[in-house]
Order: sequence, then structure tokens, then C-alpha cells
Amino acid sequence: MKILIIGANGRIGRLITPAFAAETDVVTAGRTGCDIAADIADGGSIREMFAAAGNIDACICVAGDSETADIAEMTGECLAVGIEQKLLGQLNLVLIGQEYLNNGGSFTLTSGKMGDKPVAGSSGKAFVNGAINSFVMAAALDLKRGLRVNAVSPAKIGTVPDEDVIAAYRRSVEGSETGQIFRVY
Ligand SMILES: NC(=O)c1ccc[n+]([C@@H]2O[C@H](COP(=O)([O-])OP(=O)(O)OC[C@H]3O[C@@H](n4cnc5c(N)ncnc54)[C@H](OP(=O)(O)O)[C@@H]3O)[C@@H](O)[C@H]2O)c1
Repeated sequence: MKILIIGANGRIGRLITPAFAAETDVVTAGRTGCDIAADIADGGSIREMFAAAGNIDACICVAGDSETADIAEMTGECLAVGIEQKLLGQLNLVLIGQEYLNNGGSFTLTSGKMGDKPVAGSSGKAFVNGAINSFVMAAALDLKRGLRVNAVSPAKIGTVPDEDVIAAYRRSVEGSETGQIFRVY
């Protein structure tokens, strides 16, 4: 199995990448410091990334910025960061990547606890997470060639056991489920 991990150098990426790399072929991608330089906010860059990676069975995304603020200070510019980076970036991975993944391959996106359990001041992040989860549930119904898509929705890293976070990504990649949100909280 060959796994593409986007955002491998980030907080979650540094947890899950060694776990998968210990057992299988892993290719990393990110804007800096990875095997493949790629920006998920740019559709052309996503296409080049999949072409460069080649022969991918599983695509995991642990990348995508979002910003938030108290609703009284919220701006469209603040919301746009999450829409363009975390939401559209990850959705485009599926839209474009469905052409490239091997038969039976899987996408694992990352949403987050605030999609279900928001706290004050989290609306800019909460709606992005909710939208990712809704997309995953619906897109799984359409994907062809046995392709699967799931999301991992973690709590803040450090507040849940690292092993549980790793296990959620493993369940998505190594299992047979699709259209699922694996909540780690
Ligand atoms: N950490 C948490 O507690 C937590 C909890 C729930 C959900 N999440 C979600 O999980 C995801 C990852 O979180 P994290 O804390 O691991 O983030 P992080 O530490 O900021 O790492 C993000 C990684 O993704 C890469 N990246 C960022 N934007 C990118 C882009 N447009 N194209 C390609 N690569 C990009 C970054 O590297 P470059 O800058 O070099 O590209 C970095 O390696 C985020 O969507 C976050 O909202 C995180």
C-alpha cells in the first residue's frame, strides 16, 4: 500500500506519519519540507501532486488552515481562510484525486470536534468542520471504482490520547468503511 500524507510536518502529521511509515510506503506533501511541494488551495498544484506521487492507495489530509473570532468581530475575510484552505482545499483533493487514486483507494480528510461541539468564539472553525463532515457523508455515495472517503474529527491534540488519533486514521485507511466521521473525543 502506498499512502500520500498531506501536512505530514504538522502537529497531527507528526503523530500519524511515523505510524504509517513503519509499515508501508509513505509519500509526504506540503507547501514546504516534504517529498512533494503542494498547496491544496490551488487545484493545479493538487493535480501536479497526484501525478508526481503516482499509484496512490490512500490519501490522508492533515492540512488546511482556518481562522475564527468572536461573532461580534467576525469578518468575511476571516471565514474565507477556512473556506479556501481547509474546506475547498480538502474537497478538491477528493474531486481531483478521484481521477488518480488506485481502485479501492481511500481519502481521509480532517475536520474537528468544534463541528459538533463548538465553544464560544469558534464559529469560523465550526462551520468548516461541519461542512467537511457533510461532504464526506454525501460524496461517499457517489464515488466510483470502490473509492472510499471518511473524515477524522479530533479534539485538540494533547487532550486525547495520541494512540486514539492514530487509530482513527488507521481505521479509515485500513478498514472498509466509507462516508464515516471518526470522532476522537
Ligand atoms: N491540532 C489540533 O489540535 C487539531 C484538532 C482538530 C482538528 N485539527 C485540524 O487538523 C488539521 C491539521 O492540524 P495541525 O494542528 O496538525 O496543523 P499544523 O500543525 O498547522 O500543520 C499543518 C500542516 O499542513 C501543511 N499545510 C498547511 N496548509 C497547507 C496547504 N494549503 N497546502 C499544503 N500543505 C499545507 C503545513 O505545512 P506547510 O506550511 O509547509 O505547508 C503543516 O505541515 C487542520 O485542518 C486542523 O484544523 C487540528
